[in-house]
Amino acid sequence: MKGFVFDAYGTLFDINSVVEACKHITQDPEGFSKLWRAKQLEYTFLRSLMEKYKDFWEVTEDALIFAINSFGINASQIERKKLIETYLYLKPFVEVEDALEHLKNHELAVLSNGSPMMLNTLLENNGLKHYFRHILSADEVRTYKPSPKVYALVPKYLGIPKEEIFFVSSNSFDVVGAKAFGFKVCWINRSGTQLDELGMKPDVIAKTLEGMIGALGL
Ligand code: 2OP
Repeated sequence: MKGFVFDAYGTLFDINSVVEACKHITQDPEGFSKLWRAKQLEYTFLRSLMEKYKDFWEVTEDALIFAINSFGINASQIERKKLIETYLYLKPFVEVEDALEHLKNHELAVLSNGSPMMLNTLLENNGLKHYFRHILSADEVRTYKPSPKVYALVPKYLGIPKEEIFFVSSNSFDVVGAKAFGFKVCWINRSGTQLDELGMKPDVIAKTLEGMIGALGL
């Protein structure tokens, strides 16, 4: 494999980092955070289908408003701003830095639905940006994963054929989408969930990036 390409949210970064911030506005921060994430993804799928693109920051904010309203919370503008800004300070999973260090002689990239501002800020805030030659955002093609238009950014920028790219994601829809596009795929199944029944199977399944490195014998 010539290049390793990583999804960001849920794969490198723990979205559950927002739970702490949600504690200030609800007694059920886990439930709130789950609904927020579910709506965020649903809105990306819907906006892609409708061809009504808004960037991931705005989509994340719309999903937050939905969650606030459905929990019947009275959140001020300032509280809302604090919550959404947690996306710029998510924590990486514990093994991420060591795994990137181990893989650093390969061509490494990020491919995410996140907007360029969100991805650059998040990677900088965690001191991880220097590991990646390319930080690719769906924003360039104004639609979202799992559209093949988004995955096509990888061979275009890395200059490597898709069959020689190892795509790494924890999100089942992303694993399926990347496989359908033609990458070799590793599913980081951190939470032991079920793969979607869409006829695509990952080449490797591991619980962590460390597990993936072990499975590939690297
Ligand atoms: C991503 O980083 C949304 O987790 C998805 O593209």
